[in-house]
Parts: sequence; structure tokens; C-alpha cells
Amino acid sequence: MAAADDRERAARFDLAHLPEDYYVDPYPYYRALREHAPVKQMPDGSWFLTRYDDILPVYRDPKTWSSDKKREFGPKYGPSPLLTHHTTSLVFNDPPLHTRVRRAIVGALSQRHIAAMEPALVALVDRLLDRIAERRRVDLIDEYAGAIPVEIIGNLLGVPHAERGPLRGWSLAILGALEPVLTPARAEAGNRAVVEMSAYLKGLIDERRANPRDADTDVLTRLIEGDGDDEPLTESELTHQCIFLLNAGHETTTNLIGNGMWLLLKHPGQMARLRGEPALIGTAIEEILRYEGPIQLNNRRLTAPSQIGTTDLPAGTFITIAIGAANRDPAQFAEPERFDVGRDPNRHVAFGQGAHACAGMNVAPTVFIPNDV
Ligand code: HEM
Repeated sequence: MAAADDRERAARFDLAHLPEDYYVDPYPYYRALREHAPVKQMPDGSWFLTRYDDILPVYRDPKTWSSDKKREFGPKYGPSPLLTHHTTSLVFNDPPLHTRVRRAIVGALSQRHIAAMEPALVALVDRLLDRIAERRRVDLIDEYAGAIPVEIIGNLLGVPHAERGPLRGWSLAILGALEPVLTPARAEAGNRAVVEMSAYLKGLIDERRANPRDADTDVLTRLIEGDGDDEPLTESELTHQCIFLLNAGHETTTNLIGNGMWLLLKHPGQMARLRGEPALIGTAIEEILRYEGPIQLNNRRLTAPSQIGTTDLPAGTFITIAIGAANRDPAQFAEPERFDVGRDPNRHVAFGQGAHACAGMNVAPTVFIPNDV
């Protein structure tokens, strides 16, 4: 009976018309697809991948599987600030732009830069926890998880504290316009946010050009100066990568903290284990990323005919990679439905893989309760 239900669930699955319960719990859908239709064509002609072993080669072959989104975003946004922003961001580009921008960003998010921001982060987390302890009740997302990333990325770019107010709103508006359905209200808010944020960043960048800081610890100075080998980023490239950094690190990290606390509260045995053995925090964070990762889907487009499993796909094929499905694939993870804060090894793909793997992956876990559990 369960197998028949799963077969039916896999047959009906359509990314463009997701049922309400998918948003609550997508994992039964992922299981059904992995078992019965791991390379599944959607009614709109695109394909949906759920098996770990099918997804990894896609991430690792960026030449065959392009990240360039001009073809999707051109008609979606029309000539607009949102189109300029997304088609300039490194994540939606292939080489040569991607290679040059990524080198600058990876150089600017080094362990040294992260270590430099840690004391301010520890002080912030302590302050937030003290406030929670006084009141004994908290809205975890609004008052804790949502408060941390903006501060961290504000510190990363050296945005003065008094000027951080609009950052979260801008970020949410730009991310909102990435949703599959772009309403006029979302487009208007997203475009306004790109314009306002670009104008704000121009002032910040001009100021930093005039008064550079230590490029070994200051991310914006490092991005402005480059690493000496490549051409420095143009003004527009610089502005749009700064906007992207804020957006890439914002909702993802907020949701990692929220998902982590929710999982630990739902699994009191694992919570007790972690409290008893705080050194498990590293594997616990990896397990939270695997079990309830903040990013569920990525996309790629095929540049030449290729094959996934036994399915032949023509050049131009658009695919969706289901990260959350790969992360619970029993062919890769023993007892994948078990939440285990000590899981090791844990080769999850919550940060993607290959050329576009998350450039902030060393920042994200730092942000997650660094010195206390
Ligand atoms: C838990 C938190 C996070 C998760 C789960 C996450 C996940 C991801 C994923 C899946 C990608 C790959 C996209 C693709 O292949 O198409 C990515 C890319 C990226 N992320 Fe993150 N991210 C997180 C936090 C951050 C933070 C804090 C930053 C920066 C401070 C950041 C910066 C980036 C950048 C720059 C890229 C683009 C890399 C490229 O295209 O070469 N991320 N992230």
C-alpha cells in the first residue's frame, strides 16, 4: 500500500504546483521520487533530481551544467535593477566572470577574516542570550536567529551600526523577488531594494576607497583591492557581490539557527547528548545542515547532450537539484531519517559542491552558537 502511495506521489509531483503539505514536510515526496522517479520530468519540460549519486556529478561538472541564468531571468525581470543584480552575482554566472569574482570573495572570506569578526559575534550572542534569560520567553527567529546574520554581515562589510536598519528589509525584498511567481508587488519591492541598496553601498565603497583598512581582516577592503593577480572588480561587480553576500548569508543562516533549535527540541535525547558532550557541536551543526538544510533546491542548465542514470537529456535541459532529497538518500547515509548529532562521516550537500560550493560555508557555522550550547 505504502509503495503504491509513493508511486502515485512520485507520478503526480509537479514543482510548479506544490501541495501545501510539501512545504510542511517535503521528505515523503523526496523519498517517493528517489525510489520511483529519481530523474523526473516536470510538466513544463524541466527535470527534477533527487538521488545523491545523480546530483554529485552535476555539481562537479560546471562546464556541462551551467549556472548562467540570463535565459530565465531575462523574461522574468525584463530590463531592470533586479536583472542587472542577478545576472552580475557570481552564483548565477559561469567563467570567466564567476572565476574572477569567486577568487576575490574566497580571498575575502578567509579564516583570518572570520577570526577577526569572532569577538564581536561572541559579544552579540552573549548579549542576546542574557536578554532571553532575563525575560525567559523569546521569539527565536525575530529576537535571536534573525538578529545575528545582519550583524555578522554588517561587520563583514564594515557597515556602521547606526546604518544597519534597512539591511534586513532590502535583503528580504530582493530574495522575495526570486520566488517562482513574481507578482508586480514583489517586483516593485525587489527593484526598489536593489536601487536603494546600491546607492547606500556606493557611499560605503567610496568611503572605504578613501580610507582603506587592513585587507587581511577587512572583507570590503580586500574585495576593492582584489588579490593582485586578477583585474579588480568593477564598481558594478563590487556593488552586486556585496548585495549578494548580504542576501546569501542572511535567510540561510537565520533558518539554520531556527531549524537547529527546532530539531534539538524535537529530539530531547540528542539535545541531552549535546549538552553532556558540547564537543559534539561540530558534528551536530553538520547534521542539522544535512537533516533540515536551509536551501532545498538549486538549478543548472545543460550546455551539451548528456545522460543522468539511464535518461538521455538534450543540450538546453533545465534541471532542479533537490538538495534535501540527496541529504536523506539511504544509498549515501546510513539510517538517513535518524537525526544523530554525532554522525560521522556526513558528506551532505547543504552547501552545494564543486565550483559554486558555498563561499561562506566557514562563516555559517561560526554564526551558529559559537561558544555555548
Ligand atoms: C547555513 C547557511 C548557508 C547555506 C545552507 C548556504 C548554501 C549555499 C549553497 C547551496 C550554495 C550553492 C549554490 C549553487 O551551487 O548554485 C551557496 C553559494 C554561495 N554562498 Fe552560501 N549558504 C549559507 C551561508 C552563506 C553565508 C553566511 C555566506 C556569506 C557570508 C554565503 C555566501 C555564498 C556565496 C558567495 C555563494 C556563491 C558561490 C559561487 O557561486 O561560487 N553563504 N550557498
